[in-house]
Amino acid sequence: MSTDSGIDRSRLRALAERERATFADRHPRSRAAYARADHLFGRVPMTWMNKTAAGFPVYLASARGNRITDVDGNEFVDFCLGDTGAMAGHSPEPVVAAVTERVRDGLATMMPTEDAAVAGAELARRFGLPAWSFALTATDANRWAIRLLRAVTGRSKILVNSYCYHGSVDESLIVVGPDGHGRSREGNVGAPVDVTATSRVAEFNDLAMLERELAHGDVAAVLMEPALTNIGIVLPEDGYLAGVRELTRRYGTYLINDETHTFSAGPGGATAAWNLQPDVVTIGKAIGGGVPVGAYGLSAELAEALTGRGDLDLVDMGGVGGTLAGNPVSMAATRATLQEVLTEAAFATMIETASAFADGISKIIEGYGLPWSVSRLGARVEYRFANPAPRNGTESAASADAELEDFLHVYLANRGVLLTPFHNMALMCPQTSAADVARHHEIFERALSELV
Ligand SMILES: Cc1ncc(COP(=O)(O)O)c(C=O)c1O
Repeated sequence: MSTDSGIDRSRLRALAERERATFADRHPRSRAAYARADHLFGRVPMTWMNKTAAGFPVYLASARGNRITDVDGNEFVDFCLGDTGAMAGHSPEPVVAAVTERVRDGLATMMPTEDAAVAGAELARRFGLPAWSFALTATDANRWAIRLLRAVTGRSKILVNSYCYHGSVDESLIVVGPDGHGRSREGNVGAPVDVTATSRVAEFNDLAMLERELAHGDVAAVLMEPALTNIGIVLPEDGYLAGVRELTRRYGTYLINDETHTFSAGPGGATAAWNLQPDVVTIGKAIGGGVPVGAYGLSAELAEALTGRGDLDLVDMGGVGGTLAGNPVSMAATRATLQEVLTEAAFATMIETASAFADGISKIIEGYGLPWSVSRLGARVEYRFANPAPRNGTESAASADAELEDFLHVYLANRGVLLTPFHNMALMCPQTSAADVARHHEIFERALSELV
């Protein structure tokens, strides 16, 4: 990993130690709660909650809009927003009302509710694909979409971009190695088989590499984000996405746009904002307003092809399905989020706020002469310790600087601002105000003034 972020390392380490000590002082109840959690694997309900810059996580007391209060009474302006799960703001009123009403009237009945069809119609309107199905996570939406496309094509492989993230999907844990070919991603836990047996990989923004891999004729689907978001934001270059569509069509490969994070680009995600024509869209997180949900939408041609396949068990134990998927609470939450919270008007505000965020932070970085860059995807902003901005996942991974990132995260948290614990992402929700952006910038500027 690069340590060439324009920063004096010994000063950074001294400041980071000071900030971690302040953090420990400000969070005695969180620290004690963590110390007590002897019967949780890794002391947390899910192991990724150990991704914290300060040695232990902050424990939630309450969250509303873009404000979080922790168990020690500290209040935060939240730009993490549940890593997109709370892009609609925390506990939005229409979602709380819809869920509260639904919770009283049956939770796990194995029966559809009318909310699901309304949510499906709204997703169809926004993303341009007519046939929707629901999961509980975006990971599962991806897993099931992949299975369906393998079934339809009779091909065995899935192609993803290097350093993508599509949830804990086995096929996606592949990167381009130094020899230019696929290899298992570092840290891949318990892979069922060598990932090169199930997957192919290409660099984002590299049509030649994509064509080289598709030409094998064994790729059922390209699963991709229209912009990479999980290794920092990596935006598509001019002509790249059109080229992907053209090549996938030429080689008989289906195209899945995973819009779980790129939904920040607008009400219909990057698909609508950039006029893309995928065969399948997968999504999750934000569309449930914080309630677990995932979804995939199929083209009419695919839906028809799948329905006509009597040999595929789509109803019982064929590998696509979950007992609580499509449950009444997730469906009520999704309907309310789409119809009443993450509306066209809300996106317009969020994107305007994000533009101000990006402009302000670019000026501060320039002012300090740092070799960093800022990228924006609609309502989502990210800075990377590289300039020009990385063009693909491998370059973006190489520009990471965990020490510097951790310092900035703790510095901000100690002054009441949260970024996502993963890289330097700031997301705007409908309640994020110009004053919140100014507050972030003032603290960020102070951090740099101490550091540089
Ligand atoms: C693009 C993308 N797809 C899928 C997922 C998985 O979502 P979930 O954790 O809800 O399964 C994520 C999670 O960050 C994501 O960023």
